[in-house]
Amino acid sequence: MKVIAILSQKGGVGKTTLATCLGVAAEAEGKTVAILDLDPQATASFWSDERAGQHDLDSPVVSSLQAIRLKPVIAAAKKAGTDLVIIDGAAVARDVAHEAASFADFVLIPTKAAVFDTMSMTHTLDVVRQLGKPAAVVLTFASPQGQERADTQQTVGALGAEFCPVTIGNRKAFFRAQSTGLAVQEYEPKGAAAQEIAALYSYTCMRLYGAAKEPTR
Ligand SMILES: Nc1ncnc2c1ncn2[C@@H]1O[C@H](COP(=O)(O)OP(=O)(O)OP(=O)(O)O)[C@@H](O)[C@H]1O
Ligand SMILES: [Mg+2]
Repeated sequence: MKVIAILSQKGGVGKTTLATCLGVAAEAEGKTVAILDLDPQATASFWSDERAGQHDLDSPVVSSLQAIRLKPVIAAAKKAGTDLVIIDGAAVARDVAHEAASFADFVLIPTKAAVFDTMSMTHTLDVVRQLGKPAAVVLTFASPQGQERADTQQTVGALGAEFCPVTIGNRKAFFRAQSTGLAVQEYEPKGAAAQEIAALYSYTCMRLYGAAKEPTR
């Protein structure tokens, strides 16, 4: 079993969106997935409720919990044969980030391009560095043109962190899918957002398993 933590001190950078979309991507290739929702606002759990109510879909399983319970819940997921745990972090809470990262095989740190987001990202980077965890910063809400990708890559490099080669654009499909309990690749399978998630999932698998894609069990 592998554990990804999606963490950022900054709110609204796409943590929950990436957690749910990556979870659905992993299930599509046969993995069993548990999403652990650490946000007191329980956004991922509400997404799961919409998913069940509107689409009659009961996976991936989303559990809302406090960070202090991560250890027993992750142990139970392992015992139950779960292939992949995705921890959806909460904004602001630094101790939560530390707790979540300590269980992770790989930490994904979404950020918007603005300077303030980059500054708040440094807190999360400190945490993963302290713990010696593999991590990458992924640019989200990117505009189609512009310097922001190159600028963010440079800033991330200057902070000594890894920059994810996949960028997630600012696309309405993410918002629409999320609000109806779907992953974007289910909502608009041939859309650009779906392609971005497929690429991000491949990259994540490479970081977790050392290959572009892990064969299904
Ligand atoms: N790439 C994107 N393009 C456009 N809208 C997006 C994108 N990613 C997420 N959104 C939307 O932006 C809002 C915030 O995203 P999300 O909830 O995933 O962020 P978060 O980092 O989990 O926030 P929080 O810190 O509050 O937990 C949601 O309404 C979501 O649907
Ligand atoms: Mg969230």
